[in-house]
This record gives sequence, structure tokens and C-alpha cells, in this order.
Amino acid sequence: MNRDLESLKAPLPSERPDLWPWSAKHDGQLHLGGRSAESLVASFGSPMYVLDEADLMGRATVWATVMAEEFWDGYGMGGGSAYFAAKAFMSARVVELVTSAGMGVDTASLGELTLALRAGADPNMVGLHGNNKSDEELRLAISAGDAGIARIVIDSMDEIDRVAAIAKELGRKARVMIRVTTGVHAGGHEFIATAHEDQKFGLSLSTGQALEAAREIAKRESLDFVGLHAHIGSQIRELDAFAESASRLLGLMGTLHEEGIECREVDLGGGYAITYTGEDPEAMSPKDIARTLAGAVRTACEEMGLKVPHISIEPGRSTVGPSVVTLYTVGTVKEVPLEGGSRLYVSVDGGMSDNIRPALYDAKYTALLANRTSKEPLVLSRVVGKHCESGDIVVTEVALPADIRAGDILAVPATGAYGHTMSSNYNMLTRPGTLGVGMGEPKWVVYPETLSDLFARDAALSPEK
Ligand code: LLP
Repeated sequence: MNRDLESLKAPLPSERPDLWPWSAKHDGQLHLGGRSAESLVASFGSPMYVLDEADLMGRATVWATVMAEEFWDGYGMGGGSAYFAAKAFMSARVVELVTSAGMGVDTASLGELTLALRAGADPNMVGLHGNNKSDEELRLAISAGDAGIARIVIDSMDEIDRVAAIAKELGRKARVMIRVTTGVHAGGHEFIATAHEDQKFGLSLSTGQALEAAREIAKRESLDFVGLHAHIGSQIRELDAFAESASRLLGLMGTLHEEGIECREVDLGGGYAITYTGEDPEAMSPKDIARTLAGAVRTACEEMGLKVPHISIEPGRSTVGPSVVTLYTVGTVKEVPLEGGSRLYVSVDGGMSDNIRPALYDAKYTALLANRTSKEPLVLSRVVGKHCESGDIVVTEVALPADIRAGDILAVPATGAYGHTMSSNYNMLTRPGTLGVGMGEPKWVVYPETLSDLFARDAALSPEK
């Protein structure tokens, strides 16, 4: 029992640096960006997402650099780049940080695209995804900048005519890629390679749909065919799954070449796993990922005798996930007897509204007592939120000191990806703000929501709107 509890304890930043932002330190208390968690909560409130801006910029720099390096033309490659998948965490400041570090921005809606452009992203480094894009989204993508955005990723046969018509009307040539279902699907514990995938994204490789799409695109005057794209899943640790998908995609590039249709660029998508708890294996380094991809790409191109195209990727989670720590304040603490023991239910002032991932995906997190150290023995604990659902769990299993009590601060690391962006107002909770630290004085990146923000959309309360 004791050994199990020890493994359920949140590792300190010095023990598992891959779990925490780079500025995280623990000297009896947790510090982020040089400020104690306690002082951050005292000044800015709770709960709160704390974004280590220097950490985010560092990760973005690393992604942009390893792609540029491993796919450098000087090594006989065709250049490489990385687009930040903005769905993981979208705000103007985040766009500013990742683009100034050399990443592009991958968007998937009118809101994400508008924000990326308003935040100053270069349209030549912006992409648009979506299985059901609206005309408004396509119009904005095609009319942005001098030549539209870098790539609209076509997801269905229907979309080819729609994009071509809008581009024609706007007097532009829209740059497009094809989202290909390569039959490799991975993520979590699954690793299945199937010929056909029963899901809504992309055009299938095995049935010839993707090939047909490329032929159709090549016929349209108002479309500029950039190349192929595949995204195989999320939180994936199996590097060979990425390599397999890459070589299948390049195989299609070879077939197209034989027909006189050239791909300038191939995007291998995102999905690289990060560390969420002390029980996770160490996260793969961007360098190892880029090197593996480069190896697979080089081999596939050499076998076909083709020039290596420009290679891009779209890491979201692995760019911003570890940069954010959620700070919560403990309220009710309750011991619940279980058969052969008990579990301590530690309630915090947020929950499934600021992190839906445990409820939605059974995602595992960990939590560290952030404002003090305790010499009390560890007890089996569950961190829960304040919502009216028993599935409102923040951390399913964690070992916390037996004297954990109201007023303590808990830090949950690795909440940067899909925490804020999937947050909700369930039970009329206001969504937490995101505080930027690590680059100068702490400053809001996203303000905490207020009750007036919340009520502003209630037509009976705000009839003037
Ligand atoms: N590119 C495309 C086309 C995508 O659909 C996604 C994620 C990414 C890139 C970025 O994947 P990442 O590197 O972040 O794994 N809400 C889920 C994740 C959904 C991912 C959807 N697409 C979660 O919280 O785990």
C-alpha cells in the first residue's frame, strides 16, 4: 500500500521536469515564474490557469527549430516547419508567443482563424481545417493577406467545388491541401492500422478517394494544390505510427507524381504525447520525433527517387500542454469509507468546467500540495470539483498528505492543452482566467470571467443588447 501511495504522489519539478513548466521550482512551496503559488493566488484569485510564457515560447522555438534543422535543404531535404494547433489553447498572446518563436498557426473555425489573423499571424503561415467549413470561413481564408492563407485543408469532395467557386469569385487562387485518412490511427492504448476508417475526417487513401480529390483539384484553375495532410490521433507515444502514416502519405505523393501532379508540401499532423502524471513514461523529445519523421520521409522519397517535399507538422498539446498549471483552493475535505480502507475526497473551487478531460476521456492528472510541505503520511485521495455531478473529478487518484485542509492550494500540472479551450459555464461557474508568468511581471493573458460577462448573454437580463 505504501509503495503504491508513493507512486501516486505528484513528482516535484526537480523529479520530473517533463511534467512541469521550466520555471517551476519547489523549495517547500511551489513557485512558478519566480512567484510562489500562494502569492499568485493571494494577488490574482483562484482557481486560475498559470501560463509560463517563457516555457511556451521555448517549446515553440524548439518545435520550429527541430523541424527546420532535421528537414534542412542542406541535408538534401525540402525544409520543415511547425504549425501550432490553436485548438489546444487559443488567445492573442499565445499566438504572439508561438509565432514570434517561428511557428505557424493551424486553425479550425472562424473564431480561431479570425483571432490568429488579428493577433498578427502571417497568413502565409496559417492553415484552416474543418470537416464542415462555412462559406464565411472559406471567404476569410481565401481573402486574407496578399494570397490567402497558406493552406485550406480540404476534407471532402464537396469542398473542392465550394473552395474553387469562392476563390474564383474573389479573383484568387486558393492554396489547398488534402486531408488524407492513411488508415493509421493511434492514440492512448490503441494502435490499429486498418484499410478503412469509420470516422468523419478526411478522404481515404485505400479507396482512392484522396487520389481522386487531387485529380479534381488539379483541374480547377482557381485552386493551387499544395500537397497532402494526415493527422492520425492525439496523445500518441508510438513514433512508428507517425512514421508509417508518413510513408503511406508519401506513397500517394509518388502516385500523384506519376500523373504529373506535384506535392510541394506534406503535413504529418500533430498528436505527440505529453506527461500528465508521475506514472507516465518520459515524453518523447521534439528532436527525436523530428529525426524519426525525417528518417521515414527520406527513406520513402529515396525509394521512389523523388525530391523530398517541405514537411510540416501541427503539434498542439506538446507545444502548450506542459506550460500551464492550474491552481485551485481546497474547500471541503471528506473521508469516504471504502471496502478495506478509505478515500479522501478533496474538493476544489473549480472542476469539470475548467477541465472536462477527466470526465470526457478518463484523462489522468496529478496534484501537488503547493503552499506548504507536510510531514503527515500520504493518504489515497481524489480531487473533485464543485459541480453537481459525481463524475466531476479533477484527479482520480493521487496521494496527498493526511492533513490537507481548506485553504490549501493544489497545483495540477499539464493543463495547458484543451483545458481553457474546452472550458464551460456549467452550473453558472465563471471560467478561470489565465495568468501569464515568467516574462516580466505576472499579467492576465485571458481575464477571469465575471458574473456580468456571464449574464450579458442572458436576453432577459440584458435586453438592450
Ligand atoms: N492537427 C489536426 C488536424 C488536429 O485535428 C489536431 C487535434 C491537432 C493537429 C493537434 O493535436 P495535438 O498535437 O494537440 O494532439 N480534445 C482532445 C484532443 C482533440 C484533438 C483534436 N485534434 C483532448 O483534450 O485530448
